[in-house]
Amino acid sequence: MKAIVVTDQAAGTAGMALVERPEPQAAINDVVVQIYASGFVPTELSWPSTWTDRLGNDRTPSIPGHELAGVVSALGYGTTGLSVGQRVFGLADWYRDGTLAEYVAVEARNLAPLPGDVDFTVGASLPISGLTAWQGLFEHGRLRAGQSVLVHGAAGAVGSMATQLAHESGAYVVGTGRAADRRTVLDSGAQEFVDLEKEAMQDVGGVDLVFDVIGGDIGKRSASLIRPGGILVSVVGPVQARPADGLAVDFVVESDRAQLREIVQRVRDGRLRTNIGTVSTLDGAVAALNPTGRRRGKTIIGVTGGTR
Ligand SMILES: NC(=O)c1ccc[n+]([C@@H]2O[C@H](COP(=O)([O-])OP(=O)(O)OC[C@H]3O[C@@H](n4cnc5c(N)ncnc54)[C@H](OP(=O)(O)O)[C@@H]3O)[C@@H](O)[C@H]2O)c1
Repeated sequence: MKAIVVTDQAAGTAGMALVERPEPQAAINDVVVQIYASGFVPTELSWPSTWTDRLGNDRTPSIPGHELAGVVSALGYGTTGLSVGQRVFGLADWYRDGTLAEYVAVEARNLAPLPGDVDFTVGASLPISGLTAWQGLFEHGRLRAGQSVLVHGAAGAVGSMATQLAHESGAYVVGTGRAADRRTVLDSGAQEFVDLEKEAMQDVGGVDLVFDVIGGDIGKRSASLIRPGGILVSVVGPVQARPADGLAVDFVVESDRAQLREIVQRVRDGRLRTNIGTVSTLDGAVAALNPTGRRRGKTIIGVTGGTR
């Protein structure tokens, strides 16, 4: 099969190459999915799991990409819950070959059915950003209606999902980002916007939850915004400053079929919009994943013919 591989961490996305690889086999409780569309998070190439297996052994050449939408083409021994020919979407294992390929082997529990009226392109754009936003807000952040949340990077892949989901849940949302993103963030349901390059985020006052996708100094300064009993949730590693009277949580997203269903249902009925930028073929993927200008929206790689 055709696949994108990486072999050299120092080379970053410029080191990606389109090659021929053997098709994956379905292990116990796996399915093999023929991929129609694939999503890639640019920071993947800094994650240890892209380069080593769970024992720390080199696993290159590895196939990056962890989001997928496609059609089940084979079932592993003992696999239940999905069938050959079914449209699915979800999250591939961090430590196995990923989704920038024509086929991937995935544990069936990490996938959910993709309704027939949702494009494969849209399906592939949802798993990481949608699940990360959902888990950060509602599981780790325990957000409830009437509370306030500051979403950093609110125009980005995770941030735009978090802004919309928090707004829909009845929270008061303050989004942050760059000046050019103000309109987009307010249109996604934030009541206020802070331009992190020109405005003082401290002027926001106290909030019940900070959802941090940026980290560094911005993450550190966010701790003092948390109200007593509030929570600072980070998806960019352990927090460097903790709230004085609150919790700090950092987590890595996990797949969850019930949450994938909730997310895709919101897309179908118009409550949730996904932010897709460039859509490329697998042949054009290396160029598309090495953009020369600012990336706007998620890059999706359409793998098999059409994306519907
Ligand atoms: N732990 C997990 O499970 C998990 C899951 C998903 C993602 N992540 C991590 O979360 C981070 C965000 O992912 P993403 O896919 O949402 O990325 P993204 O689409 O690039 O979104 C990040 C947003 O933050 C903005 N931003 C970054 N630094 C900024 C700054 N200093 N001032 C103002 N705005 C700034 C970006 O603007 P520009 O584009 O202009 O820089 C962009 O709009 C990545 O580091 C990713 O690895 C972690």
